[in-house]
Amino acid sequence: MRIIFRFGGIAMLVAAIVILAVLPFATSFVEQWSRRDVELRSRLVFNSVRDQVSGLLARNDAQKVSALFERIASDERVLAIGYCDGQELRFPSRNMPPSFSCAEAARSDSESFSIVRNQDHNVLVSSFPLNAGGRRGHLVVLHDLSYAEQRGGEARNYLFLALAGVAFGAAALAAMIAAIIMRRWLASIRQAVEHARSGNAQPAVEENIMPLGQEIRDVLHELEASRRTIDAAHTDWNPATLRAALSNELSGSEVIVVSNREPYIHNRTESGEIALQIPASGLVSALEPVVRACGGTWVAHGSGTADRETVDVNDRVPVPPSHPSYTLRRVWLTEEEQDGYYYGAANEGLWPLCHIAFVRPVFREADWQFYRSVNEKFAQAIVAEAKREDPIILVQDYHFALLPRMIRDRLPRATIVTFWHIPWPNAETFGICPWREEIIDGLLGSSILGFHTQAHCNNFMDAVDSYVESRIDREKDSVFFGGEETLIRPYPISIEWPPTALEGQKPVEECRRIVRERLGLSPDMRIGVGIERFDYTKGILDRMQAIDVLLTENPDWHGNFAFVQVAAPTRSKLQNYRILQEEAEALARDINQRHGGDGYEPIKLLIRHHEPDEVFELFRAADLCIVSSLHDGMNLVAKEFVAARDDEQGVLILSAFAGASRELSEALIVNPYNAHAMSEAINRALTMPQPEQRERMRLMRDQVKERNVYRWAGQMLLAASRLRKQQRIRRLIARGRKRAAANA
Ligand code: F6P
Repeated sequence: MRIIFRFGGIAMLVAAIVILAVLPFATSFVEQWSRRDVELRSRLVFNSVRDQVSGLLARNDAQKVSALFERIASDERVLAIGYCDGQELRFPSRNMPPSFSCAEAARSDSESFSIVRNQDHNVLVSSFPLNAGGRRGHLVVLHDLSYAEQRGGEARNYLFLALAGVAFGAAALAAMIAAIIMRRWLASIRQAVEHARSGNAQPAVEENIMPLGQEIRDVLHELEASRRTIDAAHTDWNPATLRAALSNELSGSEVIVVSNREPYIHNRTESGEIALQIPASGLVSALEPVVRACGGTWVAHGSGTADRETVDVNDRVPVPPSHPSYTLRRVWLTEEEQDGYYYGAANEGLWPLCHIAFVRPVFREADWQFYRSVNEKFAQAIVAEAKREDPIILVQDYHFALLPRMIRDRLPRATIVTFWHIPWPNAETFGICPWREEIIDGLLGSSILGFHTQAHCNNFMDAVDSYVESRIDREKDSVFFGGEETLIRPYPISIEWPPTALEGQKPVEECRRIVRERLGLSPDMRIGVGIERFDYTKGILDRMQAIDVLLTENPDWHGNFAFVQVAAPTRSKLQNYRILQEEAEALARDINQRHGGDGYEPIKLLIRHHEPDEVFELFRAADLCIVSSLHDGMNLVAKEFVAARDDEQGVLILSAFAGASRELSEALIVNPYNAHAMSEAINRALTMPQPEQRERMRLMRDQVKERNVYRWAGQMLLAASRLRKQQRIRRLIARGRKRAAANA
C-alpha cells in the first residue's frame, strides 16, 4: 500500500511541476490573442467611420463629430475616442482618461497600437492617421483591456483545473499499474524463494507469467549460498538442528543411506532366543544417531542369524527396536557373494590397498565379479526403495565403489553423496589396483565424494588425474568426468554429542573402583586402555611392544601399571586377521611372563565384543588411552575416549597416522612404528600433572563437542541441498534457452 501512495505522490508532484511551468505561457497566450481581437475591433471602428469623420472635420462640424464620438464610445468595449489634431486632442468622448496625451499616442504615419496604464487597468490605444481638410491628424480609439486580462485569468483557471484533473487521473493510473506490477513481481520472487528453500525440483518461477531477471536469480543464489555458509559454520549442531536443517533445506526430500554393515543385527543365541547386537563399527556408531534424527531408509546387508525372522515381507524392519524412527531394509547375500565381495575384494583387496599397513593386497578377478554383482544387487534394492526420482542417497564406504555410477544410471536426478570412511592412498600406490579405472568411474557417479581429510581428497584427485580422462578443477576441488561434475570434499567424521553411552554412567571414581575390582587389579593400579576391532591397521602389537619397552626401561611401573586391551574379533575368516590375533595373544603372554608375577599381569587382553556402556565405563576408569593406528581414516575411539571423560582427566596417546590427530592436537601425538618414543609418551602420560591433563582434555572436548557427527552429516546434507538448488537453476536456465530458441 505504501508503495502505491509513493508512486501516486511522485506522479502528482511531476504533474504539479508541469502545470506550474505551463500556466504562465497559457495566460499570456490568451492575453495576446484578446489584444489582437481588440486591435481588429479598433480597425473596424476606424474603417467604418473614417470617411464620415473626415467629412465632418473638413466641414468643422464640431457638434456632429462629438455626437458621433459619443455614440461610438457607448460600445461596451470602447473606452473613449478622440481626434488628435497634431498634438492637440479634440472632441474627446466622455471617458477619455485625463492622462491621455496625443504627443505619445499619435506620432506614426501608419496605424499604431500601444498600451498605457489608466487607473488599475491596461488600455489599448489605437491610432489611425486621418487627414481632414488638408490637415494631418490621427483618430485615436481607446479600448479597456481589463476584459482581456479577465479572459486570460479565466483561461488560466480552466486550464489549471483541466491539467490537474488529467494529472490526477494519470497518477492514479500509474499507481494502479505499479501496484499490479509490484504484486506480480513479489509473487514471483516469493515463489522463487519458496522453491529455493524447499529444494523442490520445480522451476523457480513461472517464466511465462513473470520473467525473473538473471540478476535476481544470482542474488537469490548468493543469498542462499552465504546463508548456508554461515549456518554450517556457526550452527550448534545437534539432532534438533540437523532435523531443522533437513526440513528447511531439503523438505520433502527422501533420504536413503546404504552401507554394508547394518546398524542392528538380530542373532539367535545358543539358548534359542533372539538377541539384538549393535556392531563394533565406527561407521555404524557415527551414522546411526544421524539416521535416527533424519528418518528415512537404511539399506544394508542382513548378516545376523535371526535377521530373516525379524523382517516383514519387503525385508524391512523398523528400528531402533525400542522406539522406531527409521526403516532398515536388509539385503541378503549368499555365502559365496560374501566371500567374494566382502572378504575378498573389499577386505583383502581394497582395505590393505588403502591402509598403508604393509599387508599386501590380494586382487582376485573372481572376487571382483562378486563385488560388481553385489553392488548391482544393492543398486536394485535402492531403486526399489526410492519413492521419488530425485532422492538423496548417502553411499557409505569402500564396499560400494561401483554403486554411485549404478545408481546414477538408474536415477539420473538423484543426489548421491558418497563417503569413503578409510584413507585414500597416493596415486602410485592406488595404481597397483587392477580395477583402478572402474573404481574411479564408479565413484565419479557421485554428486559429492567425501573423505575425512584434505590429504585424502588430494590423493583421490591425483589418482583421477593419473588414470582417467577428465578435467580437474583444483580451485573448486571438483572433477568433470563424462560431462558430469563431482565435488570432492573433506568431511571429518565424528561421534554424537553428548554420547548416549554416557547416560547412566556412574561417577568416575565409581567406574575406577568397579573396573579394577572386575579385572582383579589393586585399587590404586594405574590403567591404560586400548579398544578396537582386532585389525592389523590398529597397531595393537606395536603398542604392546611400547609397553614392553616402558616396563623394561622404567621398572618402577612394575606392579603399578596395567594395560587393558579390548579387541572385538573381526573378519576372522581371513588369515591375516587370525594370525594377528594369535600374535597378539602370544605377545601378551610373553610380556606378562617377563614383566609380571605375584598375580600381576601388565597386559589384560579381552577378546570379545563390548557394548558401548562397557566401553565407556572402561574409558572412565582409565588413566590413559592408546590409539596407535598404523593408518586410519579418522578413528572414532579417540573421540569416544575424550567424550567419556566429563571429569576432564585422562591422557590420550594418538597416532600421527590417524585422521583424528588433525583435530585432537592436544593428545600426545606418537609414531606407532617407534616403540621407544611411544613408551616415553606412556610414561609422560602417567606422570602428567592433573592441571595439564585438564587443560588438554578441555580443549579436546570442546573440539569433539563442536565438530560432532551432526555437523558432519549437516555439512554434507547442506552441500547436497546447495547442489540441488544450483542444478535446479541450471535446468531452469536451460529450459528458458530452449524455449527462446523454439520461439526464435
Ligand atoms: O573404517 C571404516 C569401517 O567401515 C569402520 O566403520 C568399521 O569399523 C570397519 O571399517 C568395517 O568393519 P566391518 O568389516 O566389521 O563392517
